[in-house]
Amino acid sequence: MNAGEGLPGSRNGQRPPLGEALVIIPTYNEAENVRAIVGRVREAVPAAHVLVADDNSPDGTGALADGLAAEDDHVQVLHRKGKEGLGAAYLAGFAWGLDHGFDVLVEMDADGSHQPEELPRLLTALRDADLVLGSRWIAGGRVVNWPKSRELLSRGGSTYSRLLLDVPLRDVTGGFRAFRAATLRGLGLAHVESQGYCFQVDLARRAVRSGYRVVEVPITFVERELGSSKMSRNIVAEALWRVTAWGVTSRVDKALGRVKPSAPETGRSSPSGV
Ligand code: GDD
Ligand code: MN
Repeated sequence: MNAGEGLPGSRNGQRPPLGEALVIIPTYNEAENVRAIVGRVREAVPAAHVLVADDNSPDGTGALADGLAAEDDHVQVLHRKGKEGLGAAYLAGFAWGLDHGFDVLVEMDADGSHQPEELPRLLTALRDADLVLGSRWIAGGRVVNWPKSRELLSRGGSTYSRLLLDVPLRDVTGGFRAFRAATLRGLGLAHVESQGYCFQVDLARRAVRSGYRVVEVPITFVERELGSSKMSRNIVAEALWRVTAWGVTSRVDKALGRVKPSAPETGRSSPSGV
């Protein structure tokens, strides 16, 4: 089945070479981590540029990032007014990257959970995809040092989203991703309202719904050693109500014949090629 048929964008046939990549790293109080993560990205993918999107962190992460930018012309900093959530920081980072002509935009956490050394594998998979998700929950993927409670929340969140939103992906909430610029342009980012971690679910469902080729690549997610997670009850609550609302709305639309169910082409890339 050809998933892209009749849908806008670059779903079919050959994709252009990848071009220039920008790794966007959102930060809120990551003073202990920002230097190490930027250094690791620069080493793992020397051609890539880095954009630190800092929400005026009280711990001075933004000033530390400015220092890194002064040392390295491949590093830039986007200073934002205050804490507005992961979603808003990424939207600002994407807008910056698209404005500056980048062809590939990467999402990566600052705390070392997403290993820059795995980024080349994501980029290789993107040659034949529109969006690549680093996935903890496919063969070959795993998490290190996560409490069981957090693993259950993540697996449960992915399963709930997959079933309710008809998104045939295993890790829907993860935040280690590589987008082609054309994919981001086709997602309707101006209409994204998600603030917290459900931003990731929002973008995945938009990509699938639009018929883009979304591929999961296994990653090893390593829980942070320094600083603390920004996960909160509010972030979980937002995810729960938004995912539920999206699911109910799309089911009602389908029942009323308002939308044609799309036939997304998704794929998984694992060591066995499954
Ligand atoms: N600029 C900005 N503003 N950055 C933020 C904000 C914010 O409001 N909130 C979090 N961040 C940054 C953190 O500084 C970090 O670099 C990254 O976003 C992820 O935040 P963590 O707090 O470390 O997330 P986590 O480890 O609990 O959650 C991970 O798992 C989630 C569920 O799978 C991440 O990979 C999330 O992306 C993922 O959705
Ligand atoms: Mn983290």
